[in-house]
Amino acid sequence: MGKKLIIANWKMNLNVGDSSMLVHKLTGLVKNHNDVEIGIAPSLLSLQAVSLQAHSHHFKLVAQNFYWRDEGAYTGEISANQLRGLVQYALVGHSERRHIFAEPSREIRNKVQAAYRHGITPVLCVGETASERAMGETNDVIHDQLVGGLSNITSDEASTLVVAYEPVWALSNGKDFAAHETPTPAEIEKVTRAIRSQLKHLFGDEVATSVRVLYGGSVTSDNAGSFLQAKGIDGLLVGGASLDAHMFAAIVEKAHSTEIKGKKK
Ligand code: PGA
Repeated sequence: MGKKLIIANWKMNLNVGDSSMLVHKLTGLVKNHNDVEIGIAPSLLSLQAVSLQAHSHHFKLVAQNFYWRDEGAYTGEISANQLRGLVQYALVGHSERRHIFAEPSREIRNKVQAAYRHGITPVLCVGETASERAMGETNDVIHDQLVGGLSNITSDEASTLVVAYEPVWALSNGKDFAAHETPTPAEIEKVTRAIRSQLKHLFGDEVATSVRVLYGGSVTSDNAGSFLQAKGIDGLLVGGASLDAHMFAAIVEKAHSTEIKGKKK
């Protein structure tokens, strides 16, 4: 059984000095466990600065974003080619990219391919908005986002993929993450089943089982355990709560002490 994966998404918070300080705090508080892999996604600006510190504590680095072309006249952009060797994972299709920056699925698909081209494992984020949920369209949205993001990759590539189920309505947006509405474990299980059955359709049984599926949306140290117990969930993508070193360390402990439930389907 693969390791649980817990990723801290710091979003557009902390300058370089503060990022380095937070990694320093985490190295003191977060225990290394054989069964938990930890990823840190600081701003792109801070990646290089924290890399030594992070790697010496076995934290993996995660890019929050990148542009899919390898090089060229793309002012202000950073490519997966430039991130090669610096990060192990990269978020792709986060709802803030899809909705605030209007990233279409063509772009998300190109990014997934670019990540693989440069030895970076994509963490493809999928999830429905509040209105899509209200209309009963969750499964259709997930289906479209998976097909849209993954249609150009091979089964071999897909077998290492990470998918993060992040219902847009459950994201804290950095505020009140402890008081935010979140899905029940039963709802998460239902969507995770839909994700794996779509992966099976696209890439076969083996890939559907080997892909790690994370849950994200207002995760805290109080609710982390219940999300991790949802069948088919292999880890968490943590936003707001990951900026608090004590809270993030407690979430990692929860991951260590929670048995992943009977793998999949
Ligand atoms: P949140 O963010 O934990 O603050 O809801 C999660 C995410 O957007 O990845």
